Amino acid sequence: MIVHPDIENYIHSLTSLPDPVLEEMAREGEARNFPIIGPAVGRLLVTLIQFGHVHTVLECGSGFGYSALWMALALSENARITCIETDEKNIERAKYYFEKAGQSHKVSFICGNALEVVPTLKQTYDLIVNDIDKEGYPLILPRLVERLRTGGMLVTDNVLRQGKVTGPASDPATAAVQEYNRLLAEADNLWNSFIPLRDGVGLSVKLSKKDKG
Ligand SMILES: C[S@@+](CC[C@H](N)C(=O)[O-])C[C@H]1O[C@@H](n2cnc3c(N)ncnc32)[C@H](O)[C@@H]1O
Repeated sequence: MIVHPDIENYIHSLTSLPDPVLEEMAREGEARNFPIIGPAVGRLLVTLIQFGHVHTVLECGSGFGYSALWMALALSENARITCIETDEKNIERAKYYFEKAGQSHKVSFICGNALEVVPTLKQTYDLIVNDIDKEGYPLILPRLVERLRTGGMLVTDNVLRQGKVTGPASDPATAAVQEYNRLLAEADNLWNSFIPLRDGVGLSVKLSKKDKG
């Protein structure tokens, strides 16, 4: 990871969990060696939801629901989160945890490839989280921006790839993330910040034409 372990531990020491189910999920992640956003990025997602007017959330690559549950716990009772995930077994685990945390009424799951599913969606979202296979990042970006409301926020995980993005790409996933970050930076309707938290989090606000200047 790109943050010094002492700093990472210090941040974690200040990071309480809003629900004990998240701890159980983190243990499952560790046991399965399954990458999840972790508590510091979970808190960042909650911060965005609490600060902005977020009622509709889309997550692409929701795994077994860890990041989605962080967001659901912060959403108001009438807000909704839609999760797209290719692996049916992960969706089953996510449903189990959402039930346990009393958040099932806020979530709907779509089993499928986000690259195919997102273009079929009709509504726009206040917040979109992108955490699919990294090779798919450049392809999905225009589809996600289409589904983001003006003023909405696209959050992208792993934008710094443990720092590997800084040199010539040594693997296809890093090359794809470099391409994605370049597309973000060049988009005239996105305002980006790259946050060096955990594995790098991209925050991109969709601007209105008026804001482009
Ligand atoms: C890094 S994990 C997600 C972790 C989750 N966001 C969290 O922090 O709890 C990535 C997930 O995306 C799923 N995935 C990968 N490519 C996908 C795609 N094109 N469409 C939908 N899901 C995808 C994988 O099955 C995996 O569960």
